[in-house]
Amino acid sequence: MSRGKFITFEGGEGVGKTTQIRHLSKRLNAEGIETIHSREPGGSCGAEAVRHVLLSGMAQEIGMSPAGEAILFAAARADHVDTTIRPALKDKIWVLCDRFMDSTRVYQGEADNVEPKLIDSLEKLAIDGMVPDLTFILDLRADIGLERANKRRAEGESADRFERETVAVHTKRRQAFLKLAQRDPKRCKIIDASQTEEEIAYDIWSIVKDELLSDKQNKSKSKSKTKG
Ligand code: TYD
Repeated sequence: MSRGKFITFEGGEGVGKTTQIRHLSKRLNAEGIETIHSREPGGSCGAEAVRHVLLSGMAQEIGMSPAGEAILFAAARADHVDTTIRPALKDKIWVLCDRFMDSTRVYQGEADNVEPKLIDSLEKLAIDGMVPDLTFILDLRADIGLERANKRRAEGESADRFERETVAVHTKRRQAFLKLAQRDPKRCKIIDASQTEEEIAYDIWSIVKDELLSDKQNKSKSKSKTKG
């Protein structure tokens, strides 16, 4: 294997991304594949600092526009890609990331109406070619996801700036994720997140095996190599 694989997990609030990353990580480790579990915004020192500004609501309170927030998400992403993701993949470590570029497309682009041109330019700058090998979109009704996210939150902890929005906004985001998956079905796989934890983990593992670990995949890679 020339480099590790990059897999991202996307979806609305409370869809179970973190739990599923843990399941996949265990399965991969059992196959002898080293993994890291990262997240956005965050995943590197610089990006974690920006995370606080974005999620505490500080950016919004000081009157920053959705475009300004998109720029901050991109700055955090650029640092994450450079200092965490790219070096890990180079060391043949697989990176499993909780949210990535598709969250910006959906949260800032589709739901917050930031200009598509700006979203595209920021994405190019931030990821610098680092497109995920696979993206799982965990799909769940927005009201169910929000209820789960509310339950999961520790006592005394308040909802973050994005969780505080209405069910209608969350539903718009869900539709945007589905639309995005339809546009890029090769990379983006929709997973029914209303199933049990084990069923979801099974679906994800089947796809990873088929798309990234199977002989078929390795053979087609070596064929394309010999074709030059
Ligand atoms: P987080 O606490 O990581 O929650 P979750 O479990 O929902 O992933 O919060 C991240 C929040 O930031 C989430 O509400 C989505 C939002 N977000 C964006 O708006 N744009 C982005 O590009 C990213 C990565 C996240």
